Amino acid sequence: MAILNIVKYGDAVLREKAEQVREVNDEIRALAKDMLASMYAAEGVGLAAEQVGRKEAICVIDVPKEEACGVAMPLVLINPKIRELEGEQCGQEGCLSFPGIYIQVKRPDRAIVDYLDLDGKQATVEATGLLSRAIQHEIDHLNGVLLIDNMSAVQKVAHAGKLKRMKAGRL
Ligand code: NI
Repeated sequence: MAILNIVKYGDAVLREKAEQVREVNDEIRALAKDMLASMYAAEGVGLAAEQVGRKEAICVIDVPKEEACGVAMPLVLINPKIRELEGEQCGQEGCLSFPGIYIQVKRPDRAIVDYLDLDGKQATVEATGLLSRAIQHEIDHLNGVLLIDNMSAVQKVAHAGKLKRMKAGRL
């Protein structure tokens, strides 16, 4: 098991679109394990493969039990695909690739997402609240969409200094 380096805003890999995993094999399972270890080490609740410089469509999530909608944590989503989004929630969001920045983001509340589990079996997760937010945030990553894309002009101005330093690799 390895703790992987988490790349920050400004690294081009974060804008890549993930590639579908063709076969869930031991290599993929090892990557998922490393991603979980790296997420825990950084005290995050979610991490996508691009954030450790990889292009596989994999993300890992672990939210507190009371926010987990009855879903067993940690959750590893391989090739996740949103089937349904409904309602609306607004909550605080951060990202391990944007250290120290937290913003309010409006998102759909309920999400139904199809994915492959670590055995390569088709599975579905239904979530609301924080778990749904985390899943949507990580799927954004797999599409090259980042926290900054969800910032209002006012939020961008408020965090301009930090964002500039991050992009220059100085944070
Ligand atoms: Ni993130």
